[in-house]
Amino acid sequence: MGKMKPMRAEPSEELVQLPAKAGPPAEMIFGEWYPALRSDRLRAGETAVTMLLEIPLLVGRKSDGKLFAMRDLCPHRGIPLSAGWFDGETVQCKYHGWRFEPCSGRCEEIPSLTSFDSLAPAKIYANSFPVAERDGYAWVYVPAAGAGRIEEDAALPAVPELQKFGGRYRMAHLQAELPCNVDHGIIGLMDPAHGPFVHRAWWWRSAASIHEKTKMFEPLEDSENAGRNAGFRMSAHAPSSNSAPYKLLGKPVTTIDFVLPGRRYETVLVQKDGAEKNGKKRWFASLTTVTPMTASTCRIDVIAAWNIAYWVPLVAPIAKYFGAKFVAQDQQTMVEQARGLRSNPGLMLIDDADKPAKWYFALKQRRLTGEGEHPLNGPVELHWRS
Ligand code: FES
Ligand SMILES: [Fe+2]
Repeated sequence: MGKMKPMRAEPSEELVQLPAKAGPPAEMIFGEWYPALRSDRLRAGETAVTMLLEIPLLVGRKSDGKLFAMRDLCPHRGIPLSAGWFDGETVQCKYHGWRFEPCSGRCEEIPSLTSFDSLAPAKIYANSFPVAERDGYAWVYVPAAGAGRIEEDAALPAVPELQKFGGRYRMAHLQAELPCNVDHGIIGLMDPAHGPFVHRAWWWRSAASIHEKTKMFEPLEDSENAGRNAGFRMSAHAPSSNSAPYKLLGKPVTTIDFVLPGRRYETVLVQKDGAEKNGKKRWFASLTTVTPMTASTCRIDVIAAWNIAYWVPLVAPIAKYFGAKFVAQDQQTMVEQARGLRSNPGLMLIDDADKPAKWYFALKQRRLTGEGEHPLNGPVELHWRS
């Protein structure tokens, strides 16, 4: 056993401090994988804390590289485990020193026991969650409350992963906490009409560039999984001609998929003449998730990968700067919106620009109740100005 070190696990410094009072709560979808935190920052023997669906989480990496995710709560008397120690193998509670194997949660030692006790520590489990590492994130499976302990070989839905179109690519990550519930985070993400106002900037677009758009949508069903990750696709289209960065790339074709519980996959494949020489396609792909941290707050995480000009070292920081600014604009808007939402006002969803938001609410309701039809019964054309 290595030396027990105090954890003093802290939430990521990158996250902005938000106003203490957030807007109204939303229902949360359990039985799903959610990105808990950046695992590529977590070295062997290190731990960090975060919150997922109102569950305080202690995430760490054992000496052998394996990740673990435990409810940050000792089953004995409820003190956060993160107040205790971790030696790369076991987590030890600060209060009475119970030691746990963190992947399984199994208790390995109760220091107060004597030969007069018959209690077997290994019968006691702290609450631990399935965790998988993908795209630099620790993804944690959050079962429904009362689902019981999940065995290591339990059949779980597939871990979400960003699709890459080749072996050599660059990758960037972004995250921002939002003081609003997950529903507002998600409908903000799919909202086409805010672009010219919230993301007004010389390098992106100006309000004067608004023009009418027509987009095709089609349903995504996920029938193998009883519709659990159903959603809809904005069919392959050339991105807005008024977005300056796209002008540089050639003829890109974009597909955007939204699937439950709150994942947006964007794929841009560039079909420029000669771009496929040497068998190389140019591509950009991103996975944006909106994750409930609590019922009334959420976090947006963006994972992006691309091979477009991956050999130019400057592209990554530039893309990151623009992306960070972009997400910060959304965040700022939602901080302001949260102020308005505190009084729980009635709200509106209008056709056609808010149609995707209506589909999202219908899909979520269907997922929560297990009843109803997919809100799209075939391809649909929507029109709006943005
Ligand atoms: S509260 Fe954790 S060991 Fe007692
Ligand atoms: Fe936005």
